[in-house]
Amino acid sequence: MKNYKDLDIAHIKKNEYSGIYNESIKNNEKFWSKISKRIHWFKDWEKISNVDFSKGVINWFENGKLNVSYNCLDRHVENGNGDDIALIWEGNNPSEDKKFSYKELLVEVSKFSNVLKSKNVLKGDRVCIYMQMIPELAIAMLACSRIGAIHSIVFGAFSSNSLKDRINDSECKVVITQDTGVRGLKVDIPMKENVDKALLDCPTIEKVFVVKRTSSDIKMDKNRDLWWHEEMSNISKFCEPEWMDSEDPLFILYTSGSTGTPKGVLHTTGGYLVYASYTHEIVFDYHKNDIYWCTADIGWITGHSYIIYGPLSNSATTLMFEGVPNYPDFSRFWQIIEKHKVNIFYTAPTALRALMKEGNDFVKNTDRSSLKLLGSVGETIKKPEWDWYFEIVGEKKCPIVDTWWQTETGGILISPLATSDNFKAGSALKPFFGIEPVILDNNGNEIKENPAEGLLAIKKSWPGQMRTVYGNHQRFFDTYFSQFKGFYFTGDGAKRDKDGDYWITGRVDDVLNVSGHRLGTAEIEGAIGEHKNVAEAAVVGFPHEIKGQGIYAYVTLMTGVLPSKNIEEEIIKKVKIIIGPHANIDKIQFSKGLPKTRSGKIMRRILRNISENNINDLGDISTLADPSVVQSLIDGKK
Ligand code: WT7
Repeated sequence: MKNYKDLDIAHIKKNEYSGIYNESIKNNEKFWSKISKRIHWFKDWEKISNVDFSKGVINWFENGKLNVSYNCLDRHVENGNGDDIALIWEGNNPSEDKKFSYKELLVEVSKFSNVLKSKNVLKGDRVCIYMQMIPELAIAMLACSRIGAIHSIVFGAFSSNSLKDRINDSECKVVITQDTGVRGLKVDIPMKENVDKALLDCPTIEKVFVVKRTSSDIKMDKNRDLWWHEEMSNISKFCEPEWMDSEDPLFILYTSGSTGTPKGVLHTTGGYLVYASYTHEIVFDYHKNDIYWCTADIGWITGHSYIIYGPLSNSATTLMFEGVPNYPDFSRFWQIIEKHKVNIFYTAPTALRALMKEGNDFVKNTDRSSLKLLGSVGETIKKPEWDWYFEIVGEKKCPIVDTWWQTETGGILISPLATSDNFKAGSALKPFFGIEPVILDNNGNEIKENPAEGLLAIKKSWPGQMRTVYGNHQRFFDTYFSQFKGFYFTGDGAKRDKDGDYWITGRVDDVLNVSGHRLGTAEIEGAIGEHKNVAEAAVVGFPHEIKGQGIYAYVTLMTGVLPSKNIEEEIIKKVKIIIGPHANIDKIQFSKGLPKTRSGKIMRRILRNISENNINDLGDISTLADPSVVQSLIDGKK
C-alpha cells in the first residue's frame, strides 16, 4: 500500500504483526494484563480471567472497579483534552450539524444521569432506548453507564411489537425515545407512537423520556411521559460516576438466533471496554485528531462499539449521522467526508453496492483527500465492491480493513491491519491479537493444516466476549458451547487459505444476513404464520444483488385457500408490522407441501438449494417423507 500516508507511524508497523500475535497467544494473560492498563480503573483488578467454556463461564479483570462514562469523558477532560471534539453530529438535512466537545458532552451526560436518578432509575435497572441517530441517544447511553443502569437499545426501525417483546424480556423500567424521527425523505417516523403501542402491554415501564426532535404533534401521558428538555432544564451538572465491578452488566443488545425469539446478548463493563477501546485504536489505526466515522446505526453492535464506546474511550472524534446515503442525493456520504474532513471511514458492503450502482460521478464530485483508511463490516466484501471502494472512494491510497465480528464478540476478531502487506478482496485475513480462531470439521475436529474449510470457532476467550443471554444462561451455553466442546462456536463457516488467511463464507445456521441486518428464519416464519390463511412456512436466504441476502419464503396455505397476489402482499405487510420494515420478504413461493423428513423436520438445505438455483445439486433427498414435493417446488420456483 505504497501511498498510505501514515504507514510509518501506524500503531502496528509492517512486519510487527506476527511477533505481537504469537506473543499474545503464548502469553495471553500477560498480554491482556498489559492492554487492560489502557483504561482507567478506580480499583485495579485482582485476577485477570476466570473462564470455563464447558460451563459457559466467562469473567475478565475480576474485582476491578471502573466506570465506562468516566473512561469515555471525565478522563479526557482531566487530561486536558476537554476542548477536543468528542462528537460530530450530522443531521438528516445537510444544513444541520452540531459538535460536542468532551467537556460539553460530559455536562450533558451528567445532567441526564441526574435526571434518570431523579426518576428512581438505579444501578442494575434496565433502560430501553428506542431512538433514531440523534445526539441524545449517545448521551442517554453514556448516562446509563455513568449510573450503572443497563441499557437495551432497540434499533429505531423495529416495530412496536418487537419493541414490546424486548422491553418485556429484560423488564425495563423506563424507555427513552423521541417525538418523531427524520431519515431521508421520511420526516415523521412515529417513534413515540410506536412506544405508546408497545407500552399497552409492558407492565414494568414506569416512565418515558421523550426528546423533542421534530416538534410533531404527539400524545403525552401526564402520569408517565416526560419531556427530555424540561427534565434537563433545571438539574445539576455534576454526577459522581458509579464504581462498577468489571463484571457488572453494561448493556443488553438483542440479536436473532437460529431458533426462538431474539436473544438478549449481555456485555459487561471491564472486558468490553478494554476490548472495544483497543480494537478501535489498532484496527482503525486511530491517531489523535483523526476524524472517524462509522456509518452504522447505534441500534446495532457496530454502533455501540465503534461509534460510541471504542472511539470515546480513545478520546477520538466520532461522527454520528442521522440520515441515509441517498439523501439529498447519492453523494451524501462523500459530501460528509468532505465537509468534516473524515480520515477513517467504516461502512457496510450493502451500502457500497447500493452506491456503486449509481455510478462514479457522485463520488468523484467530492474531495475525499482526507481519507486514510477504509473499513467494512457486516458481510464479506466481495471483489467488485472491494475494488470500487479501493479505487474510486479511496483513490488507491487507503487500505481496507474487512472486519469480521459479531454482536456476541463485542469487537472485531478477524481483520487486516492498516499495514498488512497482502490485502485480498474478500478475506478478513488474520486474527486480531489474543484471538485464536480454528476451523472445525462437522464432528468438531480441528483442521490444522492449510488450506482448510469448515466451521469457524474460537479457542480462547477474549475480554469482549458476551457473558450470557439475559435471563437464560442455559440458552447461552446451548447456543455457543454445547455443539463443539472447548470452543466458542460462531455460527459462521470459513476457509483458511495456504497463507493462513481467513475467508468468511457466511452463516451455517438458520440466520440470514439481509443488508447487514441479522434476521432469524424462525422469527420470520413465526410472523408469516400469524396470517390467518397460512398453514406453514419455511424461510431461507438467496443471493441478492444489493442486500447480499434476500428473504425467500415457502408458504403452504390452509386447505381450501387459493394462492393470490393479495395474500402475498398481506403476508409481506404482516411480517413488516410484526418485526419491522427491514424484514421485507423478497419472494414468496406458495407450495402445497414442504420437504420434510419422516419425523417431520423441514429440510432447509433443499429449500436453500432451490432458492439459490442449485437444482442440480440437491443432495440426498431419499430421507424425505414425500420426495415428489421437491419437483413441485422446483417447478414453482420464483
Ligand atoms: C454476522 C454477525 C459485527 C457487526 C455487524 C454484524 C456476518 C460480520 C463480517 C465480515 C463476513 C461478516 C457474519 C457474522 N459478518 N462481519 N467482515 N465478513 N461476514 O453483527 O448482526 O451480530 O452479525 O455477520 O455472518 O456471524 P451481527
